[in-house]
Amino acid sequence: MVERPPLDEDRRLAYLEAMGVSVWEPRASLPVSAEPLVVEPASVAAATDMPTATAPVAREVPPAVVDERPVTAERSVSPEIVSPPESMSFPLPDWEEEADYSPALLDEWEAMGHPPTTEAEAVNPIERMDWNTLGATVRGCRACRLWETRTKTVFGTGDRRADLMIIGEAPGAEEDSQGEPFVGRAGQLLTRMLAAIGFSREQVYIANVLKCRPPGNRDPKPDEALACQAYLHRQVALIEPRVILSVGRISAQHLLKTETPVGQLRGRWFDYGPARIPLRVTYHPAYLLRSPEQKAKAWEDLTEVKRRL
Ligand code: URA
Repeated sequence: MVERPPLDEDRRLAYLEAMGVSVWEPRASLPVSAEPLVVEPASVAAATDMPTATAPVAREVPPAVVDERPVTAERSVSPEIVSPPESMSFPLPDWEEEADYSPALLDEWEAMGHPPTTEAEAVNPIERMDWNTLGATVRGCRACRLWETRTKTVFGTGDRRADLMIIGEAPGAEEDSQGEPFVGRAGQLLTRMLAAIGFSREQVYIANVLKCRPPGNRDPKPDEALACQAYLHRQVALIEPRVILSVGRISAQHLLKTETPVGQLRGRWFDYGPARIPLRVTYHPAYLLRSPEQKAKAWEDLTEVKRRL
């Protein structure tokens, strides 16, 4: 007879399932491993664009494998928050830090907008545009050279009155061809991460720092991010989300005007923009696909976001 795992094991498996890790599969059929969880230094991240974790992380033996099957209704998880198991949790700060509000960021908000690149923009500045005009302006945008190589602009998707806004980096190949953010593999993981805290994609608003794909998925250049930022500012101002979740280094560093690595920006609240919207930073789902051992930390970030909403 198969021995039942303890409750904590159930919770851990539920979380890993939400994160697309395939250990959920043998849950019903395999005996629970007698191997204990081991704590060892995190392996060096495969990614060169992300900070290497130095904190010890708990990982199972053998390491979990990313589940590459498409997301299906059966695999969606309960909207309830599943507490992270003790073995995978990291200490959460028990303080709410005073906002780290940079005067430089406020200056930049005041000087919103790039020089008009279309006639419509000349008579109707971005910061006063409604959704329709903003969308049309983005579709015709030539404020930087990315228009030359894009297939479609990727404006944003979801509920325009959402409480939670997700801000990523830039469209990849899939997004460029479909015109929708986060629809590739990383996007599927993001969808599962949101489901784990009880949100569908339709209930949040998802956008990127850049509306056009940088060729070959290279990092956005600073001038491209600046040329595009008025659109994002306007989206934020129209939505007025209660919380912003910034995913990945490019997004976090652009929004917070810093070069601090993501690993050091996580775990605290920032205020964003003149409306001082609470903003939380987490790892990019593409990074989590390469470094699944960091998913426990992303879970901490998501539960904090859920708690705040
Ligand atoms: N990565 C992002 O940051 N945004 C997307 O839309 C897709 C992948």
